Parts: sequence; C-alpha cells; structure tokens
Amino acid sequence: MDTRSGTLKREIARRMEEGRERTRMLLSTVSDEDLYAQHSTIMSPLIWDYGHIGNYEELWLLKEVAGRELSDRELFDIYNAMLTPRSERPSLEMLDREQADRYLDTVRAAALEVLREVDLEDGGPLLEGGFVYNMVLQHEAQHNETMLQTLQLMRGEGYRPEPRRHLPPANPPEEEMVHVPAGAFLMGTDDTAWALDNERPAHEVDLPGFYIDKVPVTNAAFLEFVEDGGYRRKELWEPEGWAWIREEEITHPMSWHRSAAGGWRIRRFGFDEPLDPEAPVMHVSWYEADAYARWAGKRLPTEAEWEKAASWDPENETKRLFPWGDDPPTPERANLDQLAFRPAGVGAFPEGASPYGVLGLIGDVWEWTATEFSGYPGFESFPYREYSEVFFDDGYMVLRGGSWATRPCAIRNTFRNWDFPIRRQLFAGFRCARSE
Ligand code: AVJ
Ligand code: FE
Repeated sequence: MDTRSGTLKREIARRMEEGRERTRMLLSTVSDEDLYAQHSTIMSPLIWDYGHIGNYEELWLLKEVAGRELSDRELFDIYNAMLTPRSERPSLEMLDREQADRYLDTVRAAALEVLREVDLEDGGPLLEGGFVYNMVLQHEAQHNETMLQTLQLMRGEGYRPEPRRHLPPANPPEEEMVHVPAGAFLMGTDDTAWALDNERPAHEVDLPGFYIDKVPVTNAAFLEFVEDGGYRRKELWEPEGWAWIREEEITHPMSWHRSAAGGWRIRRFGFDEPLDPEAPVMHVSWYEADAYARWAGKRLPTEAEWEKAASWDPENETKRLFPWGDDPPTPERANLDQLAFRPAGVGAFPEGASPYGVLGLIGDVWEWTATEFSGYPGFESFPYREYSEVFFDDGYMVLRGGSWATRPCAIRNTFRNWDFPIRRQLFAGFRCARSE
C-alpha cells in the first residue's frame, strides 16, 4: 500500500470511529422505552434508525465492496427503507438495543478488515477517493439528524441534552437584503469523493439579478406575520397549503405555544423556553415559509439563487465549497455538528459570510427553496436509484444549507435535501428573495 492511500485509509477509519461515537452518545441518555416507541407516525422508532445504520454499512462496505455478508435476507429486508414505510416500522422484528450494539460492532470490525484490503485509487468508482466510505459516513450523520428530529417530536422530558457548545451572540445586520447581480455561475459539482449523485454534474446556470435576505427569517419577524393574521388570510397561501392548515388547525410554527401569561414560548426537547426573537424561525413547513414570503412582499429563493449566493465568487469567477471558502467549518464560521442543540441568533457568524455578504447559509436551520427536487441536466444515478432518483419530480421541495443538527461531513454549498411541503419536523426555516 502506498503512503497516500495509507493516509486516506487511516483518515477514513478515524472518521468512522468518530461517527459511531456520536451516534452512541446521542442515544446514550434515551431510555429503552423511548428507544423502542414510535413517537410520530412520520418517523421510525429510534431503534430502527440505529439498526439501519449498521445494516447500511453491511450492505455497502461488506456486501457491495467485498461480496461479504454476515446477515440473512430477512435482516436486510427489515432495515430496507424502501420496503416498509416509517409508520409500519414498529411491527418489524428489529434487533433490540443489545443485539444492535453487537451487530454494529461486528459489521464495523469486518468493514475495517475490508478497508485494509481495498484499492482506493484504481478500485472502481465506488472505492475511488474513498467515495463509498464517505457515503456511509454521511448516511450515519443523516440518521443522527433524523434521530434528533424524532427526539424533538417526542413528548415529555425524556430527552434533555446538555449543550456542549457555547454559541456567539446574535448580530443582526443593518442591511436587510443583498443584491446578487445578473450573470452565469457554476451550479452543482463534479466531485466524486464526497458529493452525492444528485449534486452532479456541475453545469452553468445564468440567472437574472435578484435580492436575497442577508440572514434567515427570525422568530420576531415570523411572529409579526402570525399576529397580522397570516394564518387566517387565504390569499397568502398556496391552495393545498391553505386546505392543509385549515384541516390540521395550524395557526403557528410547530413547537410554539402561548403561555398562560400571554407570551410565546417554545418546547425544545425536554425543555420549555421563551421564544428567542433573534433566533431563526424553525419547524415551519414549506407552505408556511411560502405564505410568509408573500405576506412580506417577497418570495422564496430558487435553489439556483441560493447556491449562487452561497458559493459563487464573482471576482475570481470561481466556486466555493462553503460560503467562506474551501476550508472546513469551524465554530467561528457556522453552527453545525449538533452539540449546541439549537440554532444561534442570526448574524452570529460574520466569518461565515459568502462573497456577496450573505450570512448564516450553512448551519443553524435548513432553508426551504422555491424549487421542486429534480435531477440536474445529465444526472446519472450512483450508486443506487433509491438515494435520490426515485424522489425526483414527485412534489418534494429542496432545502439547502444544513442545520445545527447536521454534521460537517454531510453539508456543503452543493448539498441538496428534500421533503414534502407539509413537513415540519425538520430543523428548517427559510430566507426570502426578491427579483430585481
Ligand atoms: C436526504 C435526508 C432526505 O432521510 O430520507 C437516509 C437521507 N437516505 N437514508 C432521508 C437518507 C437514506 C434522506 N434525506
Ligand atoms: Fe437511511
């Protein structure tokens, strides 16, 4: 093994170890009862996510890479997300906590053995640059975020995480919107080591000039919409969104409530807290974001507008991996990686600004865009259709930028997330845009 590939392999093994430590840390204070229960019909029981993390690793790092299999067909079926909808997963014969602990350890030991033998330089597209290892690592990180969504939906005081990261104070900008002049930029990427199939290929997109909010919409701003009767004014809503909020009697963002004393409060995991006026609004659906934007005389940015504002360096005509450049996220640049357990107040990370001066694009809250999830021109599914392609053109809306609950390995300027426009369990907010 040459030195370069030896270094990469050590780096991969280290990241896998660290990723697993995090998964276990997040679940360590969850009781068995809460681990096995289904807290919401739109989410899996946490124990399913946990076993599925190990099974995905077995599927890709053992079966696909090395033709090795530890488990029988039945286990693969139990943890195949395409076979059983989330609402029906409690009926599956899943591994219990102890069995899953052992299963994940066994798969991991075998995967590390295989890693020693594979060729990461000329071993084919799955292995080149460590792609399949990076995909599996990102998958575990994505399920960490899913598990945090489930823990947020769980009622009661069963999850009271201790924040391990101190956030800098809010620093709201004076200027509300930033101008992005008309012109072409490079959207997506051709990276094959970290990018997932839906981020490829890189392609030129020519956009008219537009304005975009410098920071995400805050709780204070969203409260004005609520108190101005935003949820009672039909003309502000897409017809399906209006029908949905009427049917579900939705009158404010999920997890907000009015206290007996009259002020607005939120429920965050096991805590009841006052609503922070400077924090970005969170747990709103696409329909709520869209209605707010209309009320404000604006609109949601398209996915291309978001990516241009985040990634394009107009002076050098180059594209950045993150708004601040190509260097990895740090606590001074963005609120990522879960341990704050909440978004920071807007404007808290001046060092995270994009070349156009837009703030808070990466971390804090996912941002809804106006764009339906679809493949870029020339899209090729890799390595499996069920990651992205089966969700194209099916009414899913794109979200960008990651949240406080996103791990750094699973976010970048080109990363695309998606969900139905009625979903509110995501750690998602939004910012608005306006045409010139
Ligand atoms: C990209 C977040 C929409 O959770 O459905 C996890 C990620 N894919 N396991 C999802 C994913 C397979 C996916 N999202
Ligand atoms: Fe998964």
